[in-house]
Amino acid sequence: MRHPVVMGNWKLNGSKEMVSGLIKGLDAALNGVEGVDVAIAPPVMFLDLAQQLLSKADSKIILGAQNVDLHNSGAFTGDISPEMLKEFGASHIIIGHSERREYHHESDAFVAEKFAFLKENGLTPVLCIGESEAQNEAGETVAVCARQLDAVINTQGVEALNGAIIAYEPIWAIGTGKAATADDAQRIHAAIRAHIAAKSEDVAKNVVIQYGGSVKPENAAAYFAQPDIDGALVGGAALDAESFAAIAKAAAEAKK
Ligand code: PGA
Repeated sequence: MRHPVVMGNWKLNGSKEMVSGLIKGLDAALNGVEGVDVAIAPPVMFLDLAQQLLSKADSKIILGAQNVDLHNSGAFTGDISPEMLKEFGASHIIIGHSERREYHHESDAFVAEKFAFLKENGLTPVLCIGESEAQNEAGETVAVCARQLDAVINTQGVEALNGAIIAYEPIWAIGTGKAATADDAQRIHAAIRAHIAAKSEDVAKNVVIQYGGSVKPENAAAYFAQPDIDGALVGGAALDAESFAAIAKAAAEAKK
């Protein structure tokens, strides 16, 4: 049985005050909620504060981060290593987000290297994949997702996906309010799972595939009602404790 995972990607948002308020509000709102793993990825600058607050509250919220680099130490100005993320309690690390692929020109191969390095360091990769609007309109969605996944599968073997999380995020749905319909998302999730199943049915059956792109409390339940949607990667709505908790609760309820 796959366990649902709802993760908040805070992107470049936050201040000490905001992080404190959001974590406290979220922890309170999630009190008693079982059956879903809830993770947050604040900007790395706030991991220390987040870790302290979570541990003080004895919170079950999992700490994550939005990026990682390819070395654990050395002359790599500006980089953040897996060891550093681990030291601050971050376990679930987003890689391959479309914003990094676009603004930082991260290639499939580079993202796959990050995937391998996270695994090597005992961290959980949250691998984002997804198509642009033009690719969607050209009917290339499944092919694009397969190509992005194959960068990992062909270099590390399909078993590398064991314990990792895949986040299917159609780029045109991110931050636009133009979410994919639950039926369309399910169709793509099933195709992604089938692509993995062609290599290993066991890995396909167990890997968590989140949907991401304008997930809100209002549409979350419809996604989670789909058999191949195992949670969500949430941007905008994760910045509000009540909204994010409502999405997590919808996942817990749907996947009981
Ligand atoms: P959004 O972002 O929920 O604001 O669309 C999702 C994401 O980029 O992970």
